[in-house]
Parts: sequence; C-alpha cells; structure tokens
Amino acid sequence: MLQLSKISLTLFKNYNFNSFEFSSRVIGICGLNGKGKTNLLDAIYYCCFTKSYFTSTDQLNISFGNEGFRLEALFQNDSGSQKVVCINRGTAKKELFLNEVPYEKLSKHIGLLPTVMIAPDDIEIITGGSEGRRKLIDTILCQLDSNYLQQLMIYNRVLLQRNSLLKQFAEKTNTDEALLQILDEQLAGPGNFVFERRKTFSAEFVPLVQNFYKQIAENDELVRISYESKLLQHRLEDLLNKNRERDGYLQRTNAGPHKDDLFFELNGQPFKSIASQGQRKSLLFALKLAEYEIIKSKKGFAPILLLDDVFEKLDESRMKNLLHWVCNENEGQVFITDTHKERLQFAFEQLNVAGQIIEL
Ligand SMILES: Nc1ncnc2c1ncn2[C@@H]1O[C@H](COP(=O)(O)OP(=O)(O)OP(=O)(O)O)[C@@H](O)[C@H]1O
Ligand SMILES: [Mg+2]
Repeated sequence: MLQLSKISLTLFKNYNFNSFEFSSRVIGICGLNGKGKTNLLDAIYYCCFTKSYFTSTDQLNISFGNEGFRLEALFQNDSGSQKVVCINRGTAKKELFLNEVPYEKLSKHIGLLPTVMIAPDDIEIITGGSEGRRKLIDTILCQLDSNYLQQLMIYNRVLLQRNSLLKQFAEKTNTDEALLQILDEQLAGPGNFVFERRKTFSAEFVPLVQNFYKQIAENDELVRISYESKLLQHRLEDLLNKNRERDGYLQRTNAGPHKDDLFFELNGQPFKSIASQGQRKSLLFALKLAEYEIIKSKKGFAPILLLDDVFEKLDESRMKNLLHWVCNENEGQVFITDTHKERLQFAFEQLNVAGQIIEL
C-alpha cells in the first residue's frame, strides 16, 4: 500500500507556508479558480518524481519574488513511514532527502512512490506531437525499472553530444567520421535497450488500453494502437550509419528511439483527425487507467492517483464509471480536485465512500 498522510509547502508556487493532513483514502480538494488546487497536486507529484508534472523549468515552481522552495511529505508504505524533503535553493542543483538521508542521485527516488496524474491538458498526448506519447511510456517504464531510466538518460546525453557535434561539423564544414563512429557505438547499447523495453511494454499495454476504452465508451468502437519505431525494421547501428549524410545536412540525428511513437486509429482512420472530443477524452482516460493498472500489477500495490479537474471533462455517467472504478474497485489513494464542493460531496455519497474534503 501507499498513502500520503501529510504535506507541507513552503514558497511553492502560490503557497507561502501551508500544511495539509490527509486522513482518508479518497480526498477531494475544492476551491475557486486560481486557489491552488492544481498546484497542490503538483506538489504531491513533485515529491514522487522530483519534478513538476507541468513544467521542466524549476524556477517557475518557486513562489514569485522568492529564492527557493521546500516541500515536505510524509508517506506510508509497506516498509513504514517515508519522509520526503525536497529543497530548491534557487541554484541548479536541488536537494532531496528520504528519511533525513540525502540522495546522491535524484533518479534513485523514481519508482519508490509511484503516482499517476490526469490533468486537463493531457489531451495533448492524443492530439499533440509524439513527444507526449514517448513521455507517457517513459514515465511508466522509469517507475518500474531503474535500469530503464539509467539507459534512457545515457541515450539522451549521448544524443545531445552527437547533435552538437553535427552542428560543429556543419559550422566548420568538416566532418570527423571517427568521432561520430564512437558516439554511434555509445548510442547503440542504450538505444537498443530502450527500444526493446518499449516494444515489450507496448505488447502488454495496448490490450489494456483497448479494454479500458471499451469500458469507458460503452460501445463497439474499434481502437487500434500500434507502437511505431524504425527499430522494428532496422538495427540502430545501421540506421545511424545510413542516415549520416542526412544528419550532417540537417545538423541533428534523424532516426532512433527518440523518434518512436504510439499511433492510434479509430475504425481504421487516424484517431487524431477523426475522433470527437468525448472519444479523445475516453482514450486519454483509457491510457491513464492502463498506466495505473500496469504499475499496480508490477509493484504489487496501487499508485497514488491525482485527478485534476476531471469533473469538467467527463459526462455524468462516464464520471460515475470512472470514480466507481478508482474509489471502489481499487485500494489506492485518490486525490480529486473540483471547483464545486457540493459536487464532490454528492459524488462521495453516491459512491458510498467516506471521502475527506479539503477547502482551499
Ligand atoms: N511561481 C508562482 N508563484 C506565485 N504564484 C503562482 C506561481 N505559479 C502559479 N501561481 C499562481 O497560482 C495560481 C494558480 O493555482 P492553480 O493552478 O493551482 O489554481 P487552481 O485552483 O487549480 O485553479 P483552476 O480551478 O482554475 O484550475 C494562480 O493564481 C497563479 O498565478
Ligand atoms: Mg487547476
């Protein structure tokens, strides 16, 4: 099991100094627009992932006009109490402590406190570019396997080096093939590892998503999902080699797992271009619930679920199905934000759950 019992925020976004105690498994957070509902969920997410769900610019998490922030959270899991402290002093290096012991590498923390967030802008995963879809897969795999995270970080680092080298070569109009060859060899190991894991993962993930989609949409729409990667046909070494001239010309690496994608189809057409808003939302929820389910089965306990503004996004019966599933069919802790307290109270009553409501 995994539960958050307390969180304190100091100079984090719109919070100066606030503490919240959670005594229940299902928690509603209500307040008007701009009160800090999303920010509170993000603070919880931050303690689990050492970064914000919404921004990669850490400075934006510091309360405006201040130098840094501090988050302190108390979790309970099967090994006991886990106190997480995260400090940003306005410098590039942030500090993270688990039960008062500093982490040497932040990445070591990932996966200890698995969490799934569903936020309004996540619809981008379906309608936007491939980056969001890779991030979805990577976020899951990183929480399940620290080795995956390591290999992905190495791949990304070497890729950056390769790209900056390609730029230098273009500026100097002189290519050092031997140096490129060394980097290509360094990319091959982690690149193939990342690809293999994603491929195996997709085979497991896709049927789950399809199943959830069916449950949420309650009809016979046929959703097909395929994992797309040039590595399905070619070895990474060969791809890099074959594309060298083009890479040099475009000054970046054009093929590799950093281009992988998930492709969605609805009744034989690209999902992106034909799906209605409701169908997109249903697919988004299906993806996220499949994420939840996979993490739960691999970890042996349910992740924390953070639902931001989902009431605005789903119609009543879909909402009921979703809440029933998360609150009654699962043992995990759930945080739900809403602008209307009555709506939260009503939902809890209908579901027969003793939810705690926090008003901001
Ligand atoms: N770094 C920051 N410093 C101070 N305030 C910030 C910072 N970042 C965001 N805010 C403020 O936090 C508030 C938004 O909080 P949040 O997004 O959590 O609101 P919300 O309750 O989720 O609102 P909504 O119902 O509209 O989604 C805004 O007033 C915004 O200006
Ligand atoms: Mg919000």
